[in-house]
Amino acid sequence: MNYQKILEDIAEEIKPHLKDGHVADYIPALAKVDPEQFAMSLTLFDGTQYHVGDTETLFSIQSISKVFTFTLALKFYNNSIYKRIGVEPSGNPFNSLVQLEYENGKPRNPFINAGAINMTDALVKHYKNAELTYKEVLNFIKEIADDNSISLNDVILKSEKEHGYRNIALANLMKSFNNLDNDVSEVVDIYFKHCSLEMNTKMLSRTMLYLANHGEDPISKKTHISQRQAKRINSVMLTCGHYDASGDFAFNVGLPGKSGVGGGIVAVVPKLMGISVWAPALNEQGNSLVGTMALELFTTKTGLSIF
Ligand code: DON
Repeated sequence: MNYQKILEDIAEEIKPHLKDGHVADYIPALAKVDPEQFAMSLTLFDGTQYHVGDTETLFSIQSISKVFTFTLALKFYNNSIYKRIGVEPSGNPFNSLVQLEYENGKPRNPFINAGAINMTDALVKHYKNAELTYKEVLNFIKEIADDNSISLNDVILKSEKEHGYRNIALANLMKSFNNLDNDVSEVVDIYFKHCSLEMNTKMLSRTMLYLANHGEDPISKKTHISQRQAKRINSVMLTCGHYDASGDFAFNVGLPGKSGVGGGIVAVVPKLMGISVWAPALNEQGNSLVGTMALELFTTKTGLSIF
């Protein structure tokens, strides 16, 4: 298959839509990003990469980090993690408080904000130290991206902290239901740091290889998680990776995927490749509008959905 040509065709087809949607503005630093940017990368199991657009440009990974914190929490806790977290789609916005209240502080899944804050708490419990948790998650991301340069953006971190009212509320609500072990501000702080990491589509498409290959990195040959755990993460990405638009994403794209409010999306083609796309303007549910469109075009043109 001529992947390069397919990517270039997609870049042409999405062009008229780069003006659609809106960049996230509830984190003011994200509102400053030029919305008319686009990048898409594929990484195959032998390390071959295909790119189109602004693939060197770093952007805020935001909720894509939730895939990595869930991976490590599942690795360390295995099935006991489900005492504190569910695996059902929420059908609600990613930062909603209502469901968490009537479901007694147990987040629906690890990909909504409450769920990711909870996974961060589990990791702080495991590592027994908040700063160490940040560093270990970053080290894991550097390893699977095969890139040591990854770091966080201080301006975005500060902006997240200053406007993190809902996340702090979610963490407090979980604490009130005894579903948060550590100090609220400590946990939320580390969650913000992971969201503020910056990467590009080249790096992010590389990070998905362990999920495409039953938990083992096909290039380094390192086993990060078991085959069963990889199946679970992919399943939750398919059913919950795009919040209240997860059904829509599964319907139109047909791949496990995870979005971030910085406009990035990662997706997995099992046994074949990792994909990442970036276009900062979002749809109403907070997922990249053009990014979703590009992935839909990709599975339509290649027939590479999981179905
Ligand atoms: O906590 C937040 O609201 C952001 N740091 C992350 C949310 C996000 O990326 C939602 N994704 N589409």
